[in-house]
Amino acid sequence: MSKLNVNIDHVATIRQARMTDEPDPVWAAAECVLGGAHGITMHLREDRRHVQERDVDIVRQTAAVKFNLEMAMTEPMVRYARKLKPDQVTLVPERREELTTEGGLECVKNLKILSSVTRRLVKAGIDVSAFIVPDIEQVKACARAGCQAIELHTGPYANAKTERQAERRVVELMKARDVAWDMGMIVHAGHGLNYRNIRPIAAIEGLEDFNIGHGIIARSVFTGIRQASREMLDLIDKYTHLG
Ligand code: PXP
Repeated sequence: MSKLNVNIDHVATIRQARMTDEPDPVWAAAECVLGGAHGITMHLREDRRHVQERDVDIVRQTAAVKFNLEMAMTEPMVRYARKLKPDQVTLVPERREELTTEGGLECVKNLKILSSVTRRLVKAGIDVSAFIVPDIEQVKACARAGCQAIELHTGPYANAKTERQAERRVVELMKARDVAWDMGMIVHAGHGLNYRNIRPIAAIEGLEDFNIGHGIIARSVFTGIRQASREMLDLIDKYTHLG
């Protein structure tokens, strides 16, 4: 069964809306773990619009599950990650004007910097994953750069307008997964996944982790984060077996 890392950035977004001290993402991480999540994902953005260093530091120290830090390939972030030592860094593109991470990382054009950042993180004992669209050249560039894993962008699947389109996106994801496997990399997936669209993605064989934020935090307004995490885990489990 694939594993679930809950992305708790949105909890920090609510807190920052009032520049106050609640809700605390540290509490959210504990609730995810109590709901059975296998990991916590946080994106420390350059503009610090939601998650703060304090949040990452405390969750890293207190959540006894996989800690996945999303970050841009900047010098201050590489230095920070080398000190923090998360279990995994996921390298993402970052643009100030975007609402959330939009496209995948451009690994072909940025191969040199990707290789250098990856080498420095791996040297510090951190696994490196790169968030990419399911394009074969992007997958190959990640392998060349020394990434241990890729996270396939499921946004295009989630935004598909018709069932046929969605099916085509699933095929693209599977092809990219196969190439990544051939090159010895682990394959994760995420972005835009929710309780209504997880089924065909959960049924894809061999995806290691799902990184899911918005869908779970949106449901948690009504059910609490512990239950929302549990419900997503149950769906992943069910559809992994049923296909
Ligand atoms: N994976 C990556 C690399 C992301 O940047 C995000 C959004 O922060 C997610 C997964 C989760 O996406 P969503 O919030 O749509 O579930």
